[in-house]
Amino acid sequence: MERSFLMVKPDGVARGLVGEVISRVERRGLKIVAMKMLRIERKLAEQHYGEHRDKPFFSSLISYITSGPVVAMVVEGKDAIKVLRTMIGATNPGEAAPGTIRGDFALEVGRNVVHASDSPASAEREISLFFDESEIMSYSRAGEEWVYEE
Ligand code: RTP
Ligand code: MG
Repeated sequence: MERSFLMVKPDGVARGLVGEVISRVERRGLKIVAMKMLRIERKLAEQHYGEHRDKPFFSSLISYITSGPVVAMVVEGKDAIKVLRTMIGATNPGEAAPGTIRGDFALEVGRNVVHASDSPASAEREISLFFDESEIMSYSRAGEEWVYEE
């Protein structure tokens, strides 16, 4: 099983899309193993998006992600990283396919509702930025035998 970091961004929280995002994750068969609402401080935002430090959109990205509460999650399941990236859709919602979160709920790259880790290394780094290992739960979901072949 693989773990990914998923976050409903401030626009998603403000627009009441937290339940919609969680519902899609749960219905897919993925398991939420940690979750919290928080207001991201500048330092954490700059660490989280450190790879974009030199990009022209960096300061607006930091303003956006610190502008209100977010809901951060650790999501576990088979190929969780790739599956969540497919579920959130293209970075620019204008190019995101219908049926994806961004393709269904967003129009602009700077208001694209959700974040998901883009690789195993990012997932590990992002999970440890936002969660202690003690905050990550271990439990079985009912009906897992109908989600996984074995
Ligand atoms: P995220 O990290 O938030 O899941 O998004 P992503 O992988 O799909 O895209 P990434 O390249 O990592 O960009 C991070 C976030 O920066 C904002 N952005 N703005 N104005 C622009 O050209 C631009 N490009 C990226 C978006 O909010 C994007 O999600
Ligand atoms: Mg990214």
